[in-house]
Amino acid sequence: MPHTSPPSFFFRNAAQLLTLSGPPVPRRGAALGELGMIPRGGVLTEGVTILAVGSTRSLERQALRLRAEAIDCRGRVVMPGFIDSHTHLIFAGSRVDDYELRLRGKTYEEIAQAGGGIQSSARTIRKSGIPSLVEHARKFLDQFAAHGTTTVEVKSGYGLDIAQELKVLRAIRSLQTGAALELVPTLLALHALPSSFRGRSEKYVEEVITRLVPGVAHEKLAEFIDCFCDRGAFSVEDCRHVFDAGRKFGLTPRIHAEQLARTGATRLGIEVDAASADHLDKLSAGDIRALARSNTVATLLPGANFHLGLRQYPPARKLIDAGAAVALATDFNPGTSPTLNMQFIMSLACTQMRMTPAEAIAASTVNGACALRRADRVGSLEAGKQADLIVLDVGDYREIPYYFAVNHCVMTVKRGKIVYARK
Ligand code: NIG
Ligand code: FE
Repeated sequence: MPHTSPPSFFFRNAAQLLTLSGPPVPRRGAALGELGMIPRGGVLTEGVTILAVGSTRSLERQALRLRAEAIDCRGRVVMPGFIDSHTHLIFAGSRVDDYELRLRGKTYEEIAQAGGGIQSSARTIRKSGIPSLVEHARKFLDQFAAHGTTTVEVKSGYGLDIAQELKVLRAIRSLQTGAALELVPTLLALHALPSSFRGRSEKYVEEVITRLVPGVAHEKLAEFIDCFCDRGAFSVEDCRHVFDAGRKFGLTPRIHAEQLARTGATRLGIEVDAASADHLDKLSAGDIRALARSNTVATLLPGANFHLGLRQYPPARKLIDAGAAVALATDFNPGTSPTLNMQFIMSLACTQMRMTPAEAIAASTVNGACALRRADRVGSLEAGKQADLIVLDVGDYREIPYYFAVNHCVMTVKRGKIVYARK
């Protein structure tokens, strides 16, 4: 039998159906806390698309006509799949050595300066072929699906030279083939200066602009272009040049900003109309106002603060109250945030940054979709949107962050197909 589109499903009787319905624009201020909840809700899918959303009772007849397969969601929460808009999924080995060094008192920046950190990930990437990078990432990707994530941004960045970066992006492309989840590829063009360019950073930036960016665009390997614009990484000027080059080739900017020090990276992100500025630990009051007036999504990555053992977390409350569009993501990477669990990120957002559970859900779904410029298609449960949804074994959505550090997801549906079901 030839493979046909997925059948119809009727997810019925969800204790709480969180639709997140509304215009496909970032939710700000009070709107961030609106979940569009339907008690005893139902979702009817046909093929890859959502056909109807409403009370279970209002959908019964239509479901019968369609001969939709019923899935009982009694006592459970149904919501859009998580959109993880910031990951460094392609790497080759863990960084447990760095981890232990930090536990013994060294800082992230000290380890980087001594040749550990990103440089050590670059050394292991260099030794790996595409098949082994893909296999390594695929195992994690299965875990993303099992934890309820349906769309994953994936950055290059551990290649650190033209050939290696192209290899990493080709690995992302190859990973996408046959993957259940949707990957969104980003060229992380400036991450760390390769050791062979020590003292010649202008030369490296020039290579990135004249060779890497055109090469990536030519092979259509990325949708976004990112830069680590921070103390000890790259300057605002270097990053501006690289973003300008990327934009000429149709790559949309996103930026690692204000993680280690306040450098003006966020302002640069706004200036180049970045889809998102990420981390934002060291924002000034003026930066917060500027973000609130902009279309750039403020993506917070509290997993990095947790794993680095920092006491300070990004100023989520100030950002939300000022009117900025806040999203949450894992920053899954071997150096600063080895977690792929968006439910745990929600717990950190609530407990450490004082976001409400409702705000954390919107920030992990619809606003993540906005950060990846695909909110017209994913991030909410509405007729006509892609059937990307999850079923969580809790009766109240607030229990997702409350019972922390466990996986509540029992089913993940991507483009109308069940891609994970807990046994
Ligand atoms: O998002 N800040 C830069 N990049 C990563 C960490 C990279 C690493 O240490 O491997 C981040 O935290
Ligand atoms: Fe990152």
